[in-house]
Amino acid sequence: MLCFVPVGCGLKKRLKGIIAEVLSLSSSSYVCNSYKVIGDIVFIRLHEMPKKHDKVLAEAIMSIHRNARTVLVPAGPVYGDFRVRGLKHIAGERKTVTTHVESGCSFSVYLDACYFSPRLSYERTRIAKQVKDGETVLNMFAGVGCLSLIIAKHSNASRTYSIDVNPLAFQFMQENIRANGSYGRIFPVLGDAKEIIEKRLCHVAHRVLMPLPQKALEYLSLALLALKSGEGWIHYYDIEHAGRSGNAVEKTMLKVAEKLATMNIDNKVSFGRVVRSVGPRWFQVVLDIAVRLV
Ligand SMILES: C[S@@+](CC[C@H](N)C(=O)[O-])C[C@H]1O[C@@H](n2cnc3c(N)ncnc32)[C@H](O)[C@@H]1O
Repeated sequence: MLCFVPVGCGLKKRLKGIIAEVLSLSSSSYVCNSYKVIGDIVFIRLHEMPKKHDKVLAEAIMSIHRNARTVLVPAGPVYGDFRVRGLKHIAGERKTVTTHVESGCSFSVYLDACYFSPRLSYERTRIAKQVKDGETVLNMFAGVGCLSLIIAKHSNASRTYSIDVNPLAFQFMQENIRANGSYGRIFPVLGDAKEIIEKRLCHVAHRVLMPLPQKALEYLSLALLALKSGEGWIHYYDIEHAGRSGNAVEKTMLKVAEKLATMNIDNKVSFGRVVRSVGPRWFQVVLDIAVRLV
């Protein structure tokens, strides 16, 4: 089984070498802007590479990664409520399900039906380290359960409610909870986080995770509703634009502070950072926010 390999200099250089050798092209004309290994699937995105070279390139990649069984390229952007994307098979076995290992957990992932990104592994560990003994955590947008599983493995949280609206993500989450021996610590819930919190999970959590930037501001009041006696921690993710002299983290802090002020919520951002860049001058930002109803 393979682990995620970011586009490190070494691999990028080797890939450029392959482009030059195998395709007899000038490697400098083509930029490999995403290259990751998820389980035994290599996922690659090449900038300005003519499609006719896909197959030769994919086979060359599989010759470097001897455990790789499949090479996929994205067939469009991530879209919709489930945050999935079309994938095009270019070499090896035709499959989109694999098992990925991260920080001592194994995740069964279904790449064209459920969201999964190995690029969030540092963020998952960073959050897990903050969870205190005995806490109840609520993950509003859990996907196949990766963040909940890392928390169950690396903290002494008493329980983690793990919600997702995508039935297939829920099915894979259940499988992952079983495979990692986390039953009784993670409670998977299928449905819209808004309805689930309003009907069944008001005032239960010390800490709420909101790893869905597209719904963050809209669902912030639900995160507050899930907190025990209106106080605790919210890990808030959003997408923000910042020009050359701008600061995406500061802009997000301002936006959230304005929203919380309208709800009479005392808040302090203990930490904020850019998680990753998601487009030209667009950034995914996380804020760790201590909140208290005044
Ligand atoms: C970015 S993914 C979460 C990634 C996950 N935290 C991880 O570490 O892999 C966002 C998830 O939110 C789910 N989702 C979208 N709208 C939702 C809603 N209203 N309630 C619950 N889950 C929702 C999607 O199905 C998707 O799996």
